[in-house]
Amino acid sequence: MAFGNSGTTLAHALSYPLSNEGIPHGEAVAMVLPYALEFNGFDAEVIKEVKGILRDLKLGREVKGDIEEMARIVMEDKKI
Ligand SMILES: [Fe+2]
Repeated sequence: MAFGNSGTTLAHALSYPLSNEGIPHGEAVAMVLPYALEFNGFDAEVIKEVKGILRDLKLGREVKGDIEEMARIVMEDKKI
């Protein structure tokens, strides 16, 4: 119901290709959150704090997917 009324955010859209590679949804959203915050003009200190939290929680991993294919998935998604 919440998504139907408001949609989700950039981090959600960016996470879908990572989830397609088997990364759990919450971890995938966390991995791309700093980049979504940067794109949306958040303060650098906020982004630094978020990155620190992700590092402390040991979230993030190497992704071997095709970046062009991942970008295509994100750009074609209409559920943002
Ligand atoms: Fe979600």
